[in-house]
Amino acid sequence: MLRRLHPDQPDSFAFTDANLAWAEGQITKYPEGRQASAIIPLLWRAQEQEGWLSKPAIETVADMLGLSYIRALEVATFYFMFQLQPVGKIAHIQVCGTTSCMICGAEDLVAVCKEKIAPEPHALSADGNFSWEEVECLGSCSNAPMAQIGKDYYEDLTAERMGEIIDELAAGKVPVPGPQNGRYAAEPLKGLTSLTDYDSGKTQYNASVQLAVDIGDTVKRIDGTEVPLVMPWQAKAANTPSQPSAKSAETAPTGEKPATLTEARAGRPDDLKKIKGVGPKLEKLLHSMGFFHFDQVAAWTEAEVAWVDENLEGFKGRVSRDNWVQQARDLAEDKAT
Ligand code: FES
Repeated sequence: MLRRLHPDQPDSFAFTDANLAWAEGQITKYPEGRQASAIIPLLWRAQEQEGWLSKPAIETVADMLGLSYIRALEVATFYFMFQLQPVGKIAHIQVCGTTSCMICGAEDLVAVCKEKIAPEPHALSADGNFSWEEVECLGSCSNAPMAQIGKDYYEDLTAERMGEIIDELAAGKVPVPGPQNGRYAAEPLKGLTSLTDYDSGKTQYNASVQLAVDIGDTVKRIDGTEVPLVMPWQAKAANTPSQPSAKSAETAPTGEKPATLTEARAGRPDDLKKIKGVGPKLEKLLHSMGFFHFDQVAAWTEAEVAWVDENLEGFKGRVSRDNWVQQARDLAEDKAT
């Protein structure tokens, strides 16, 4: 199947503030000069926000990553998970048509989609609320036949249930995802036959369905405010949308500067390269910043880690990413013994 940009494109695309903060945060996961690695998560978030990937959205992501447009277009057109045409306003339904689902009735599910939505895949329903497509195995074969609707899996489906689900979605409800035949997860239909001790302490639904129900974003477009923005690799967490975006955080002073030395004690610095992730270039940078010894790094507080992370030009975020403080504690202890 040829994957081309849709002929009708919007004039522009912009991330919401919270999604922008999220996207900029993702970029900081990657080493300096390797920001292009963030392309898939950023394209995915653009799609989560809009439902599909327009040309302006692809170009916006390319601009954020310093990529030529053709590079971003190559990624967007290669992966089938990216929708290159508008999808239903309420939901896009992906029916698995691979072996297990096919022999368990996937064709009947497709027939329902053709009847209720549109005769052709990737076409919008008359009211623009739904679209559908057939996809390859979604990894839920033991609960065949199944379909992904929005973010969640609807499993153990029948044609009748599929029709009801579409009607419920059209009426503004979000049916509980997961098995639709009373199964809890993927256990035998008559219940567990082994490891029955583990049948206790259940949540109402299986873990993934429980999460879907708790977050409630099954078919919702994502604006970034659904869950707190957490960036442990930067040793800081922020709630959106009230927190400043990653862009404004860049200019704001972060953390506390740790105590520094003008030179190594007794003229003998520790070999900071023993800290995993520190090479000769980074060691030189640390020396220029006044850090020469394991015990200095070992004593950094969380706020000091945040400051160093922020000020390691070209290596931002490395201290928390590679857990330097714990490494330095171990190395300082080895040295002492
Ligand atoms: S064959 Fe349908 S989920 Fe695997």
